[in-house]
Amino acid sequence: MDEKKIGVVGIGAIAHLFHLPHYAQHPFVELVAVADQDYDRAQQTAQQYACQAYASAEQMYADADLDAVSICTFNESHVRLSLQAIAAGLDVLVEKPMTTTVEDAELLQRAAAASDRIVMVGMSRRYRDDCRVLQSVAASGELGDIYFAKARILRRRGVPLGWFTSMQLSGGGPMMDIGVHALDAVWWMMGMPQPDKAMGKLFRRIAPYATKDTGSYEARSSDNKLQPVYDVEDLGTAYITFDNGAALTLEASWAVNGNQDDAMKIELFGTKGGASLEPLTLFKESNRIPVDSRLSVTKNDHYKDEIAHFVECVLTRKQPLSDASQGCEIVKMLDAIRRSSEANDAVTVV
Ligand SMILES: NC(=O)c1ccc[n+]([C@@H]2O[C@H](COP(=O)([O-])OP(=O)(O)OC[C@H]3O[C@@H](n4cnc5c(N)ncnc54)[C@H](O)[C@@H]3O)[C@@H](O)[C@H]2O)c1
Repeated sequence: MDEKKIGVVGIGAIAHLFHLPHYAQHPFVELVAVADQDYDRAQQTAQQYACQAYASAEQMYADADLDAVSICTFNESHVRLSLQAIAAGLDVLVEKPMTTTVEDAELLQRAAAASDRIVMVGMSRRYRDDCRVLQSVAASGELGDIYFAKARILRRRGVPLGWFTSMQLSGGGPMMDIGVHALDAVWWMMGMPQPDKAMGKLFRRIAPYATKDTGSYEARSSDNKLQPVYDVEDLGTAYITFDNGAALTLEASWAVNGNQDDAMKIELFGTKGGASLEPLTLFKESNRIPVDSRLSVTKNDHYKDEIAHFVECVLTRKQPLSDASQGCEIVKMLDAIRRSSEANDAVTVV
């Protein structure tokens, strides 16, 4: 099989944690270029990975010989850089959240549908083997109709350092950052029903805080590093209903006075059975007796598998598991949660 030539835009924390190393190790990938508005960082990274450095995505798209790109910049630039990549004939893996506004999300969804390019959204939790198992159990019908579900990621103290707390750059707080993973995973397990209404409440009652020794994810870029701007929520909660009669609750926090628990929790409630992600358990009945069954699934490197899936899509032209139209629905639900919170009322997801 031919090697595919890949570039990465935005050479920060997540690019270094998984896009770059997993592309570099992939047998059918040649990592040819990196671009960052911080040209020094691009040059250092290019030296590390023996590839070409560019000071902008535009320059890289125009000059480098590429088949595909990963876009790992701040949320606000995801769609602009993705549209430019599609126009340059490139396949795209864009980090989550796909973008920060419904208008932008629809733009990218339309551009992806109108082109023959692969556009994948980095909804990394879908590539966890335990999540895949739950999704396939739900899709098999074993749980019956899933009419209610709960998803949450609650950090006691875990505001990421950097641009994440600036509404302009991130589009929102923990709902955009980690709630997006929980929402996408639970919605996918429920069979991706059509969203109807959302009631959301976003709070900022604790952050920024002075708590010591909390340990936080740290963005590499210097933008908003000392957090002069903190204009997003620290806790988001929501209730979303769907056209098929189902509903879900969602909770995501960077700061809350509760147990420290960074793990994603999901519970599915169906007419024939239920399931939970942590611990990975099915709740059913046998001879009218309730039975709890633990599923044994070994932990996979889901970031590695996500990159491998994107490369496979680029090579074989199959549609990605997490595509632009699904990414767009997630942005619509997140937008409805924010609008509902502002209106202090339920809103229609549009
Ligand atoms: N999938 C996951 O689990 C996961 C985890 C963390 C972050 N992310 C996502 O990855 C993205 C990047 O986050 P990060 O933590 O790596 O941030 P970061 O600040 O460490 O890196 C972002 C990089 O993008 C560069 N950049 C920003 N705008 C640019 C532009 N227009 N052109 C070129 N370069 C630009 C910055 O200079 C910086 O080097 C975000 O969208 C975030 O939500 C995903």
